[in-house]
Amino acid sequence: MGMTQIPNLTLNDGHTIPQLGFGVFQVPPEDTARITGQAFEAGYRHIDTAEMYGNEKGVGEAIRSSGIPRDELFITSKLNNGFHEPDAARKAFDQTMSDLGLDQIDLFLIHWPLPTKYDGDFVSTWKTLIEFQQDGRARSIGVSNFQPAHLERLAAETDVVPAVNQIEVHPYFTNETARAASRDAGILVEAWSPIAQGGVLDDPTIVKIAEHVGRTPAQVTLRWHLQRGDIVFPKSSTPERMAENAALFDFELDDQAIESISSLDRGEDGRTGPNPDEFDYIPS
Ligand SMILES: NC(=O)c1ccc[n+]([C@@H]2O[C@H](COP(=O)([O-])OP(=O)(O)OC[C@H]3O[C@@H](n4cnc5c(N)ncnc54)[C@H](OP(=O)(O)O)[C@@H]3O)[C@@H](O)[C@H]2O)c1
Repeated sequence: MGMTQIPNLTLNDGHTIPQLGFGVFQVPPEDTARITGQAFEAGYRHIDTAEMYGNEKGVGEAIRSSGIPRDELFITSKLNNGFHEPDAARKAFDQTMSDLGLDQIDLFLIHWPLPTKYDGDFVSTWKTLIEFQQDGRARSIGVSNFQPAHLERLAAETDVVPAVNQIEVHPYFTNETARAASRDAGILVEAWSPIAQGGVLDDPTIVKIAEHVGRTPAQVTLRWHLQRGDIVFPKSSTPERMAENAALFDFELDDQAIESISSLDRGEDGRTGPNPDEFDYIPS
């Protein structure tokens, strides 16, 4: 299927990340080992999970039973919202490592900035992730759902620039302001919900381009992300779609197709998820 062609991008800390991975948001915990195992069989080597998804143990099980050498895998997880205070973050990170069964994680992120919680202090949380990197248990560290102002604050108050910012990006919400702020600071963008959870797949513009290049709407949309330089990890629970979503390296979109897809942006109305400036959910 040509998975060997998945490009590696270089992070600002010198480590590399496969530009295409597999996301496990909304994969039920009891199905996660099986579905992640199928993703490995389909050729994916980069997995995006989170404490919030409740399925890190399943990912760990799939890693162990895959027999794939650890250094061929790239595993990301994220700090859950209830654990931003340094001591809570340390305990939560210990739990993540134990649930995944790993000594080192490739990338660990602050899942949401929660600017209206913890007196707006996500800086001490970031400093705690810096500890995890310094003690060697997190190879790379980054953030998720950080707005430009949040990135500026980390830059002003700490010495470590996040390796990635994982934010909502898809044709209906191109999120250019947060993308540009990230890229200008040397932070790679990871585009979450890259096909808007399926919501862009019957868009007439995307369908037309797909027909023209002889590909599916999902493939065209994912290819649009890749050519813009972002990292993607589409989620699917079926092996057919896992394969479809990975067959992206034997065709190209021309500039005009890229432009037409980018022009589908609906601004704030295009979001499928919450606005990070307001989101304050803490699991009970
Ligand atoms: N940091 C954050 O706050 C955040 C938020 C959201 C997501 N994420 C990450 O981003 C990953 C991807 O986002 P997502 O899971 O929200 O949405 P997504 O990848 O944009 O879309 C997944 C949905 O599309 C369907 N689908 C997948 N491939 C398809 C295809 N080729 N044709 C038709 N339908 C297809 C899937 O259905 P089936 O499963 O039935 O195939 C599923 O319902 C997540 O898994 C997670 O790792 C992060």
